[in-house]
Amino acid sequence: MNMLNIKILNIARISWLGILIIISFSYKGNAPEDITLKERFKDHFLIGSAINRHLFSDEDNLELAIVKKHFNTITAENEMKWGPIHPKPDEYNFEPADIIADFGKKNNMLIIGHTLIWHNQTPKWVFENKEGNPADRETLLKRMKEHIQKVVGRYKENVHGWDVVNEALDEDGKLRQSSWMKIVGEDYIAKAFQFAHEADPEAELYYNDFSLENKPKREGAIKIVKNLQSQGIKIDAVGLQGHYKMDWPTPAQLDSTIKEFAALGIKVMITELDIDVLPYKDISAEVTLNMEMQEKYNPYKDGLPDSVQVSLAQRYKDLFEVFVENKNSVDRVTFWGVTDKDSWLNYWPVRGRKNYPLLFDRNGKPKQAFDAVVKTVEIN
Ligand code: XIL
Repeated sequence: MNMLNIKILNIARISWLGILIIISFSYKGNAPEDITLKERFKDHFLIGSAINRHLFSDEDNLELAIVKKHFNTITAENEMKWGPIHPKPDEYNFEPADIIADFGKKNNMLIIGHTLIWHNQTPKWVFENKEGNPADRETLLKRMKEHIQKVVGRYKENVHGWDVVNEALDEDGKLRQSSWMKIVGEDYIAKAFQFAHEADPEAELYYNDFSLENKPKREGAIKIVKNLQSQGIKIDAVGLQGHYKMDWPTPAQLDSTIKEFAALGIKVMITELDIDVLPYKDISAEVTLNMEMQEKYNPYKDGLPDSVQVSLAQRYKDLFEVFVENKNSVDRVTFWGVTDKDSWLNYWPVRGRKNYPLLFDRNGKPKQAFDAVVKTVEIN
């Protein structure tokens, strides 16, 4: 080989190297590690998850790393509920909620307050007088006002919106006969919204409930919204909790639910999304399963079969297609938990089952459902 040939060969080698370098720098891969949910849905809706205080016991927490990477909004799973935050008449326990709010603030996330007025996770003393009999209307309203002022007031700078009233309806669309309802009467809902608005005029205010995809209950919620609107009381959105099953609701049902609420001039939020893959019919809450029941009601204790993994991915795809299509009305989609490991569905309605309701598996790896979800929008 003469000198000229060697030179040409070297030039060719260098150019190839250059081209390779350029290619590798300009290549925008769509390998799963590159994809983040918040980037993918940035033109559609906010995307978030519930987090809880237990995640903060470990500095290199897997779930928190996922939250930072994928989500732009968070909700406290339990820490802002009446019981945890206001356990006794003169005792507030803000620390766990503060940890969550600080995390959200530090990471530029929108923080959702959950929840001010609910029948669950509310201590008995709230509804009782000194003698242990039911409190009267005035006392309960006074407590409600004081609680809302204190909690909403504390997070005024940080919380973007509040689930003011949670689960006020029965399946038939009538108001649930909770202690709030029995003692105060049906205007407890309006009062709660008024107090919340007074405490933070800037905050968004939501009515949050499950099964609103079913007609009777949806009609009940529409009544609540219209009633508030007719009195000039601020309500910004309805929260569909989104605790879905593999066979409920249908995409069409979900689609018409979103459209009916949007027609009222409010936003729609999916506030507690998860999909239960375990059998749920004929099962009562809070039972401990015996061996025979384990087989039947806890079928995937050794792992999720591929076929179910695929159906779950398809199910997530079907639902996200509806959210994406309604992106002008759907403002936020929040998952109820981060990985399958920390989902409440492992212990509700039955303790000790292994469920697979979220997009990240027990090791924090994106599941097939994750891929299916991100594919519902075009890559820019
Ligand atoms: C659940 C939490 O995830 C559990 O940790 C807790 O033990 C019970 O409450 N609807 C709601 C949520 O509005 O607050 C509930 O969260 C799930 C159902």
